[in-house]
Amino acid sequence: MAHALAPPRVVNIADLRRLARRRLPRVVFDYVDGGADGEVTLRENCRIFDEVAFRPRNAVAGAAVNLGTTVLGTPLALPVVLAPVGSSRLIHPRGEAVAAHAAGAAGTAYALSTLSGCTLEEVKAASSGPVWYQLYLVGGRDVARAAIDRARAAGFSALVVTIDTPVAGLRERDLRNGTAALTSRRLWSMLPFLPQFLARPRWLAGFLSDGGLMCFPNVVLPGVGPMAYADVGVALEQSAVAWADLRWIRDAWHGPVVIKGVLSADDARRAVDEGAAAVVVSNHGGRQLDGVLPTLRALPDVVAAVGGRAEVLLDGGIRRGGDVVKALCLGARAVLVGRAYAYGLGAGGGEGVARAIEILRNDVARTLKLLGCSAVAELDRSYVQVPTDW
Ligand SMILES: Cc1cc2nc3c(=O)[nH]c(=O)nc-3n(C[C@H](O)[C@H](O)[C@H](O)COP(=O)(O)O)c2cc1C
Repeated sequence: MAHALAPPRVVNIADLRRLARRRLPRVVFDYVDGGADGEVTLRENCRIFDEVAFRPRNAVAGAAVNLGTTVLGTPLALPVVLAPVGSSRLIHPRGEAVAAHAAGAAGTAYALSTLSGCTLEEVKAASSGPVWYQLYLVGGRDVARAAIDRARAAGFSALVVTIDTPVAGLRERDLRNGTAALTSRRLWSMLPFLPQFLARPRWLAGFLSDGGLMCFPNVVLPGVGPMAYADVGVALEQSAVAWADLRWIRDAWHGPVVIKGVLSADDARRAVDEGAAAVVVSNHGGRQLDGVLPTLRALPDVVAAVGGRAEVLLDGGIRRGGDVVKALCLGARAVLVGRAYAYGLGAGGGEGVARAIEILRNDVARTLKLLGCSAVAELDRSYVQVPTDW
């Protein structure tokens, strides 16, 4: 492990966040760190874990704990998957491939966003583990179908359909930072960013050596080519997914479909009825509709509604291994993490992602031992106490 990422400098995910803040220009750090509107849900996603208390069984712990699980029929070395994080290539050169590599090396899965800077094929080649493709319908059905075909041919093992983004959330920090001007690609509109870029010379050198502002090589527009970075907001709004789309998406994919962005029993049942192999209880990390339930609070209802007919995953607010364990106790088969590893990517590239995973893995192992539980597969509600109105 690189010295800069070892204790005492980096003990937890918050330390990686602090380093990322120091290494990234403000416009990039805020893109990763920020949420929608008043950031209420962003904060609540994290805070809600404090409402759940552990109930350990002491004096029973054995020497070894088993962190392995199976998600969508694939064994994973730990119950933590890397969530789709769009534009990771802005955070670090070839960010998506770098993160996928770290996930594979740790024995877990990586989910690639439609809105990524690395190609599907490059990301698959970078990882020795399973890779999933997260689908937005940007560019329309034919463009999405072409990406689905590429994902299948490249060997992606699951398709993640995100249903909470009919329009991009209002990220106030991005508006204040003038992020839209940055994406305009006109030199003069980039000038105001020069001071913050020059203040982060290591990031700037990486950005320039990686070809400057990325495009979206997996969104190939007919007669145009890869979609330019500038088009995202409008493109998302023109391509909202509906339940009716699940039919053709499933027919085009022929593999397991994961529905990401479920927060209610009704949507969970609908997703299962439409053939989802798994649902992700997610509010997009508080980046879409602000004021929705924090995900851990929505989890029990979704687990009950799904009733074992599909796998239930959760993301949002996971910053410690203890959070992972609480989600598993309440019925999630595994969790996804977004910012936890994105901070690592900003703090130290692939080594930073590996360090983020290592922190969470060590936390989960230690928490299991302290709980007196020998395997993540054995976690259940008896290991936690939740508020009486849950
Ligand atoms: C910078 C950033 C970009 C994201 N881009 C996408 C995306 O392109 N597609 C998607 O489905 N979710 C996206 N998400 C949401 C994550 O997949 C995940 O739901 C969220 O980060 C979980 O919350 P956490 O960051 O607290 O772990 C993004 C999240 C972040 C932080």
